[in-house]
Amino acid sequence: MGCYYHSNMLLFTLFLSWGFFISNTHQLQQIQTQLLLLQVRKHLEYPSQLNSWENFNGNFCNMGSHSNNPHVIIKCEEDDSVIELKIMGDKVSKVSEFHGYAIENKTLSQTFSIDSLVVTLARFNSLRVLSLVSLGLWGPLPDKIHRLSSLEDLDMSSNFMFGSIPNQISRLIKLHSLTLDGNFFNESVPNSFNSLSNLTVLSLKNNRLKGHFPSSVTKLTTLTDVCLSHNKLTGELPDLTALSSLNLLDLRDNCFESQLPLLPKGVTTVLLSNNSFKGQIPKEFGKLNHLQRLDLSYNSLVGPPPFGLFSLWNISYLNLGSNMLSGSLYNIIKCGENLGFVDISRNRFTGSLPSCLDTNSSNKRVVKFDGNCLVTGHEQPSLDICKENVKKKKRSLGRAVWIVIVVIGIMVMFLVIVAFVRLIFRKRKHRRETVVLQHTVPKVIQDILPSGISSEALANARIISEASKLGTHVAPSCRVFSIEELIEATNNFSELMFLGEGSIGKVYKGRLQNGSYIAIRSLSLFKKYSVRNLKVRLDLLSKLRYPHLVGFLGYCINDSGLEDSTSSKVFLVHEYISNGNFRAHLSECSSDQILKWSDRLAVLIGTAKAVHFLHTGVIPASSSNRLRTNNILLDEHRIAKLSDYGMSIITEELEQLEVKGDGPKSWHMKKLADDVYDFGFILLEALVGPIVTGKGEAFLLNEMKSFGSQDGRQRIVDPTVLTTCSQESLSIVISITNKCISIEPTNRPSFEDVLWNLQYAAQVQATAESEQKSEGAAYDTSFKTT
Ligand SMILES: *[C@@H]1O[C@H](CO)[C@@H](O)[C@H](O)[C@H]1NC(C)=O
Ligand SMILES: *[C@@H]1O[C@H](CO)[C@@H](O)[C@H](O)[C@H]1NC(C)=O
Ligand SMILES: *[C@@H]1O[C@H](CO)[C@@H](O)[C@H](O)[C@H]1NC(C)=O
Ligand SMILES: *[C@@H]1O[C@H](CO)[C@@H](O)[C@H](O)[C@H]1NC(C)=O
Ligand SMILES: *[C@@H]1O[C@H](CO)[C@@H](O)[C@H](O)[C@H]1NC(C)=O
Ligand SMILES: *[C@@H]1O[C@H](CO)[C@@H](O)[C@H](O)[C@H]1NC(C)=O
Repeated sequence: MGCYYHSNMLLFTLFLSWGFFISNTHQLQQIQTQLLLLQVRKHLEYPSQLNSWENFNGNFCNMGSHSNNPHVIIKCEEDDSVIELKIMGDKVSKVSEFHGYAIENKTLSQTFSIDSLVVTLARFNSLRVLSLVSLGLWGPLPDKIHRLSSLEDLDMSSNFMFGSIPNQISRLIKLHSLTLDGNFFNESVPNSFNSLSNLTVLSLKNNRLKGHFPSSVTKLTTLTDVCLSHNKLTGELPDLTALSSLNLLDLRDNCFESQLPLLPKGVTTVLLSNNSFKGQIPKEFGKLNHLQRLDLSYNSLVGPPPFGLFSLWNISYLNLGSNMLSGSLYNIIKCGENLGFVDISRNRFTGSLPSCLDTNSSNKRVVKFDGNCLVTGHEQPSLDICKENVKKKKRSLGRAVWIVIVVIGIMVMFLVIVAFVRLIFRKRKHRRETVVLQHTVPKVIQDILPSGISSEALANARIISEASKLGTHVAPSCRVFSIEELIEATNNFSELMFLGEGSIGKVYKGRLQNGSYIAIRSLSLFKKYSVRNLKVRLDLLSKLRYPHLVGFLGYCINDSGLEDSTSSKVFLVHEYISNGNFRAHLSECSSDQILKWSDRLAVLIGTAKAVHFLHTGVIPASSSNRLRTNNILLDEHRIAKLSDYGMSIITEELEQLEVKGDGPKSWHMKKLADDVYDFGFILLEALVGPIVTGKGEAFLLNEMKSFGSQDGRQRIVDPTVLTTCSQESLSIVISITNKCISIEPTNRPSFEDVLWNLQYAAQVQATAESEQKSEGAAYDTSFKTT
């Protein structure tokens, strides 16, 4: 009471001392400000932070510079009207139970009226920033709050307000920022934010809010931060993609139970843990290029994480722990460079840990992966759920193994009978001649024969999943063609059907009786060939099935002319791809066919995927696949299909070993030849157009430096590329090209790296194109390379 009395006296003396000397409205304003501030102090029950107001006799508007008190800030206009009032008390709202009544020493007293406080505050006509934090304010926030009509920034965090957040708050149309964290609001969030067209921050975390996410929020394109975490919100989340400025979305610890929402492209932090989100993580999450932190832990998400999520450019924190995510992680071929923390623990992932998540390697990443069905070192998955999985897999695999054994048994019997019959037949005709059947089956084959399947391979989900993938896109399976059939199809290998000289052998086009077109490659055989060995190898080749590989339909071994074995031939039958090769599409002659940058990227990515498949698929294929632009064929949808692959699987059996040198890099030394290096030249040709045969080395010596400068690029990069690419996308590809054709093999990137960079470049390009479209800007503003 003493205090109260004292303050009234102070008001009175103030009024007396100035009342008689009011000379103009400015002074009136000054006095009114002082009186109002003292009244606020009274409403707040004289918090110790305002003690300095006690004996202060000057203009309160100038006090800030005198007192240096960080807990209190007052800013005024020149006419002494207050525009900013910030007071931070020490009454933190930490109680476990709050029933809407005053609590001694925690809240303001029973006599406090939040209604009166708001009425007083409303008399500051120009108040733009109001911050009353940890002052023990209690009661429902009154409707009258809308009277503070100039407010841009309202922060009443850490108090004891309860009930609803008044609808009238939507009348504060100048609001930029609304923060009511750490109170006891326990009704639904008002859904009338449409009118707050300048709102950037909406923060209502740590309350007891119920009901649904306010869908009116989704129209506020100015919003950067939405924090509704630690409440009891339920139901579905709306599509948030329209929030084009959104950086931070924090909805942790609620009861949302929908699928994950779609998010705008620019978000950097997304925290959705401790909810009941279900379904798969949308594949669009793998394209949120600006994402830095993603927390989806403690939900009920299923399925595999989307492609690209781990390799986002700026991602540093990724928490997927405690969900029901499953599948193998084999397609995580690279992690973002900034990725420092990964938690995939307590899920149902199978297979082995991708190398970039392997904490044992040199990277300094923190990775949590316990509680999965992963196979790591000596540790075997022990969870019940994993055992079930393994059993299921073993069972179906066991069946497959039996089928394979039976089929092979039948085949062997058949071969033996055929060989036996022939033996007898030949002995009669030519006693001197015997058939030598080699028994040296190449090692690669042993690896896939049933007896060769180790327990390690069984446990390795990558091999299993690749194998099952092989099963899914089966084109017509590989078969043996008769020579008559091929002769008919090619009109007796007429010149008209001759397509050209492949890297090995001549290639003919053919038409089967059922009307479908085929490409036939004719090869000569070793004199001392072994038919059996060759067949095994051809069967192996037929197992390489992938959407970006030209399908292998079958073969024909024409060994009828036993007397003259030098004329023996083998014909490989592939699907016929109608739309020409990549090299032809890169030359300017066919201007309607010429490929834009994004088309080129699509072809390069398809090819890179095919090569990556060849390197890592079931069959450890050779690392040299004669990659050249004219071995990349395009089908009618311009889907890239690699031809001439895997020839090294069979070339040991072929007579004709020398490679026909029609590529740009025929000059290069054998030891340089590997797929990454060859692919570097494909990249180069995609950038600058076809390079004339044999000029590759000269180009390397003279022109590569030009890529470094804008001028140089203008000069050597294909004009079609220049006019259709985004600079960033182009730079990514140039940089990876440089690495691929590095003379020192150890400096070359892995194929995974190459693929990743290409996919990133395509993403950047797609983003640039969609931005350009949405801006409706003239085509050349952002794309031209000036
Ligand atoms: C909100 O909290 C207050 C104070 O604890 C209580 O009186 C009121 O019944 C609650 N309202 C709801 C809807 O729970
Ligand atoms: C409130 O604070 C006063 C002074 O510090 C103290 O005497 C009193 O016991 C406190 N009351 C409660 C309920 O903690
Ligand atoms: C929103 O902000 C813009 C720019 O700061 C301003 O011109 C406009 O008046 C504001 N709108 C409202 C309703 O305050
Ligand atoms: C999520 O829930 C878990 C377990 O209930 C708890 O340990 C963790 O602190 C919660 N995290 C957040 C961010 O609420
Ligand atoms: C990544 O982060 C850096 C530094 O914070 C920033 O400059 C860059 O624009 C970010 N890149 C993306 C794609 O968000
Ligand atoms: C890495 O793994 C090997 C065996 O898998 C083990 O011997 C070695 O101690 C590990 N190193 C680190 C740093 O964990």
